Amino acid sequence: MDQSPPGPPSIDVAEILRTRAGETTALHERYLNRQMVRVLGALGFDRTWVGAEGAHLIDDAGERYLDLLGGFGVYGLGRNPPAVRAQLERVLEAGTASLPQIGLTLLPGVLAEELIRRAPAPLDAVLLTNSGAESVEGAIKLARAATGRPRIVYCESAFHGLTLGALSVNGNAEFRDRFGPLLPGCDQIPFGDLDALRRELARDDVAAFLVEPVQGKGVHIPPPSFLPEAQELCRRHGTLFALDEVQTGLGRTGRFLALEHWGLEPDLLLLSKALSGGYVPVGAILASRRVFDGVFDTMERSVAHGSTFGQNDLAAAAALAALSELDDAGLVKRSRRLGDLLLELTRPLVVRHELVHEVRGMGLMWAIELGPPAGGGRRTWEFVERRQPGLLAQLLVVPLFRRHRILTQVAGHHLNVIKILPPLVISEDDLRAFVSALDQSLHRAAPLGRATAGLTLGMARRTLLGSRARSAAPPAETA
Ligand SMILES: Cc1ncc(COP(=O)(O)O)c(C=O)c1O
Repeated sequence: MDQSPPGPPSIDVAEILRTRAGETTALHERYLNRQMVRVLGALGFDRTWVGAEGAHLIDDAGERYLDLLGGFGVYGLGRNPPAVRAQLERVLEAGTASLPQIGLTLLPGVLAEELIRRAPAPLDAVLLTNSGAESVEGAIKLARAATGRPRIVYCESAFHGLTLGALSVNGNAEFRDRFGPLLPGCDQIPFGDLDALRRELARDDVAAFLVEPVQGKGVHIPPPSFLPEAQELCRRHGTLFALDEVQTGLGRTGRFLALEHWGLEPDLLLLSKALSGGYVPVGAILASRRVFDGVFDTMERSVAHGSTFGQNDLAAAAALAALSELDDAGLVKRSRRLGDLLLELTRPLVVRHELVHEVRGMGLMWAIELGPPAGGGRRTWEFVERRQPGLLAQLLVVPLFRRHRILTQVAGHHLNVIKILPPLVISEDDLRAFVSALDQSLHRAAPLGRATAGLTLGMARRTLLGSRARSAAPPAETA
C-alpha cells in the first residue's frame, strides 16, 4: 500500500461548499428540476442558501430568513441541532458495523424500544423505513397481508406521499393525474364523514382505514368525535386503524403524538420527518405484534417486507438523538405553549381583515384561510379565483418572503390557505415578528380585494410574478 500522506480527496465537499455556492442555480437548471428553478425565480424565492441554524436559513449575502416551513416538518428540532449532531459524530467515530443484512445491530433495536415506550398500548413492534411514503407503502402491504383483505379507505385531501402506493391513497387529483392506473381497491371518503366510513367498512373487505389526525394539506382538524368513532368502527369491522403521523408526530401538535389529543390506540402508526433529527432520512411503522406476526409469520417470510437501508445505524442514531432532544429540551410542551400563543395572537386577524376567514392550528401546525371579502370585493375575488385559483394566498406568501424575510407557503394546490410548520425551537420573539409581518401584509393586500377585477388580477400578477414569468404557477406544498 502507498505510505505517502493522503492528499485532498478528488471530490472535496468542504472545498465545494467554499468555492462553488454561486453555481447552485445553474447546476439545478442543468441537471435537476429546471421547472422548479423557473418558479423560484419568477416568485423571487431564488436565494442561494449557504447555512442554517435553529429556525433560520442564511443566504450568500449573510441575510437570515425565518424559516416557518421547517423543510415541510423535517426540522422540528430546528436546523443543525447541536445535540443530534454530537451524537451522530460519536456514532461515526465508533465505526459501527451497520447493515450487516444477514445479521443484527444494536441501535435499531434500541430505537424500536424507545418508540414503543412512547406509543399507546397495542403497538409493540416496529418496522424501520427511510421516508414517510415508504412507511405508507409498508403499512398498505402489512394491512393487506395481516387481514387478507384488499381494500384501503382514505380521505379526501389526504396526503401520504408520492410513490405509487402512497399516491393511490392521495386525496388530491393534481398529484394523481397522469400517473394511473393506481392501486385497485383504494376508496376515498370525505374527511370527518363517519357515515361514509360506515358504508365502506360495512362490506367487511377493508384492510385498513388510513388517516392523518390533522390533515397537512390545508391543516384540517377533524370534528371531535371523528377519530375515536372511526377507530371504534374499524374495531367492529376487523379493519386496521392506521394513523399517519409522519407530519403530526414528534411534538408538532403540542403532544408527542397527535393521537394523544383523542386517546387513540391505532393498529398501525406511521412516523418520519422530524424523527430524522433533521439529518438522516428515517421512518417507522409501529404495529401490534398481532399484525406484525400476521405478515412475518414463518422463517421463510422473515424478508416479506423491508429495504436495504431500513435499519442503518446512522439513521437509528439520529432518531434516538431526536427523541432525546425532544425530551431534554422540553420541546413538546414548548410546541403546545407557543401554539396556544400563536392562536391567541392571530385570531384577532379574522376581525381586523376582511380577507381572513379563519385561523386554525394545533401546537405549531397552523394555518390562515383567506376568503372573499364582503360587498363589491366578493365579485373581484371570484373573478381572480376563476382565472387563477389560490393566487390571492400568494399575495401574502411573496411579501412575507421578500419584504420580511419569512419563508411560508400555500398549503396546497389552488388553496387560499397559508400554513406554517415552524421548528419547535422557534423563539417567542420570532413568532411575534411573524404575526406582525402577516398583519402588515394583510393591510397591504386589502386594497387588491376592493379594486376592480381586471385591475386586481393585473396587480396580483405584477406583485407576485413581476413581468418575468406570466405563465409560472406559484408553487404549493408538495410534501
Ligand atoms: C402525512 C404525510 N404522510 C406521508 C408523507 C410522505 O413523506 P415523504 O415525503 O417522506 O415520502 C408526508 C409528506 O409530507 C406527509 O405529510
